[in-house]
Amino acid sequence: MGLDKADDAGVYKLADDLAMIQTVDFFTPVVDDPYKFGQIAAANALSDIYAMGGTPKTSMNLVAFPANDMDIAILREIIQGGLDKMNEAEVVLVGGHSIEDKELKYGLSVTGFIHPDHILTKRDLRLGDQLILTKPLGIGIITTAIKGGLASEEIIETATRLMATLNRQAAEVMKAYPVHACTDITGFGLLGHLTEMVMDSKYGLQIHAHSIPILPEALDYAGMGLVPGGAFNNRDFFGPMVEIGSSVHPLIQDVLFDPQTSGGLLISVDRRSAKNLLRALKGKGVQEASMIGEVISGSKHKIEVV
Ligand code: CO
Ligand code: CO
Ligand code: CO
Repeated sequence: MGLDKADDAGVYKLADDLAMIQTVDFFTPVVDDPYKFGQIAAANALSDIYAMGGTPKTSMNLVAFPANDMDIAILREIIQGGLDKMNEAEVVLVGGHSIEDKELKYGLSVTGFIHPDHILTKRDLRLGDQLILTKPLGIGIITTAIKGGLASEEIIETATRLMATLNRQAAEVMKAYPVHACTDITGFGLLGHLTEMVMDSKYGLQIHAHSIPILPEALDYAGMGLVPGGAFNNRDFFGPMVEIGSSVHPLIQDVLFDPQTSGGLLISVDRRSAKNLLRALKGKGVQEASMIGEVISGSKHKIEVV
C-alpha cells in the first residue's frame, strides 16, 4: 500500500500469504506518571497494527531525553512501562535509539504481520454498514486539563486507564465478523477519522450524537475552555465536510473534533452482524463499545451528525 492513500500503517507484501505492517508513533508526555506514560505510548504505537487487522510481533523504542535536566530514573520508568505493555501484547522489544533533546519524547516503531487478503483498510465502507467505536471520547480535553493542573485524580486515573488499554481485544473479536473497514481514533478526532474513511466513497455517514460515548468530565472541562488547539485545527480542516445538527450541543461538537491519544477502534461492520459484534465486544471486556452511526447513500455533506 502506497502513500497516495495513506492508511493507519504501511503494508508490504512479502509473499502471497504474508504481508508486513509497519508503523511508528511518539510524543511528549500526556500524563505526569512516567511508567504510565510509557504504557500509553506503547498502547498507542500498537494501535495502528490492530486497526489494520494485523498481529504485532516486534517493536523498537524511540527516546528523546533531556539528560542534563532530568533524572535518568524517570527514563527507566518510561521504558519499563513501554516494555510491560509490549509483554502484555506478546510483542518482543528488539532494540531502539535515544538522543539528547530539550523536550522529553517517547514512542515506538512496531512491526506486525497479516495475510494480504485480510488487510482492513479505512476505505472499504459498504452501504448500510454500522459504525462501532470501542473507547469513549474526550481524552484530548482531559489531557489539556491535566497539563493545566485542573483535572481531578479520579478522571486522571480513568483517562490513563483508557489510553493504556490495548486495542488488541477489540481487534481479536472483530476478526470473526464481516468487518469492511477499520481505523483507530487519534489526532484527527472522531470526525476527522470518519472523514478519512468516507472521503473517496460514493456513500455518506450518519452519526448519532446521543449514541457516542463521551467522558462526562470532558464536557465539563470543554465548558471551562480547556479545548486543545488541535480540536480547532480539526474543525477548520474537516468541518466543511460535516453537517452538525443544531440540536447537537456546542460542547459535544468540541468533543467530536477533540484529538485523541490511544483512542479506540472505529469499525465499519455489515449491518446484519453489528448487534452480535457489539455484544461480543462487551462480552470480552470492551465495555464502552457503542454503535454510533451508519453508512448511508451519499448526501450533500459527507457526514451528517444528528
Ligand atoms: Co491510525
Ligand atoms: Co499512528
Ligand atoms: Co542507533
